[in-house]
Amino acid sequence: MKVVHTIQELRDQLQGQLRIAFVPTMGNLHEAHLSLMKMARQYGDPVVTSIFVNPLQFGPNEDFDQYPRTLAEDIEKLEDARDVYVLFAPSEREMYPVPQNFRVQPPKGLGDILEGAFRPDFFEGVSTVVLKLFSCVQPRVAVFGKKDYQQLMIIRQMCQQFQLPVEIIAHETVREEDGLAMSSRNRMLTDEERRMAPQLYQQLCEMRDRAMAGENDLQRIEREATETLNALGWRVDYLAFRRQRDLHPPTPAEVADQEPLVVLGAAHLENARLIDNLEFWS
Ligand code: PAF
Repeated sequence: MKVVHTIQELRDQLQGQLRIAFVPTMGNLHEAHLSLMKMARQYGDPVVTSIFVNPLQFGPNEDFDQYPRTLAEDIEKLEDARDVYVLFAPSEREMYPVPQNFRVQPPKGLGDILEGAFRPDFFEGVSTVVLKLFSCVQPRVAVFGKKDYQQLMIIRQMCQQFQLPVEIIAHETVREEDGLAMSSRNRMLTDEERRMAPQLYQQLCEMRDRAMAGENDLQRIEREATETLNALGWRVDYLAFRRQRDLHPPTPAEVADQEPLVVLGAAHLENARLIDNLEFWS
């Protein structure tokens, strides 16, 4: 595997490649990332990945400084897995040599709901860096995990609306044995928090099961699940049933018709904010 740190080196390595499959990451790689890279191999060749903790997608009081940076370990994991041909690991100065004043603004009604309501600059930062990474790597396909459900939808729509010649592939959420969705932020949890962490997934399962069993007051389910998690020591940002197609709340008629839905959640333990989601009726 070649490790490159500059855009020029990256372009030199990838010159003439027309079937690049790309997996952008912020590093601190775990099994779920490696699984995205394995999947990328089915869709293109060579596989390129990036590791860049993108300051634009962190708010002023968020965990940019604490975000785990483990490049040496990450390189070892990638070398062992043997799926990646080039790792692009730029510095902040390489990605943003001048202030990034041109930004991609996700649409209202999609970028400012759910995660966007709690992290107002997040999707602008994500969309801007992903567009920039796509411009550097020029992939034919890119693979993203469904754990970041709203991110996946925004990137898909960005590609469609800017006519970017990149096919976006979704990878199912990879979970630990106890159901916890794999995430780099899981490393920030204390032992006690790690024990509690699967409760978010358990609540989402229960919410989905109640809806699928015919309970049609979804707001009541959301309220009760929020109360349960808060009582267990979490601070819930949202637990919400949404339509898969646009992440808006379903109407009662759509619930009765079993429109494809997703139940999404975001909640804080003391040391980390976790997100997760489950699709159903699709
Ligand atoms: O999902 C992530 O790890 C990041 O949001 C991404 C897509 C690599 C952009 O920084």
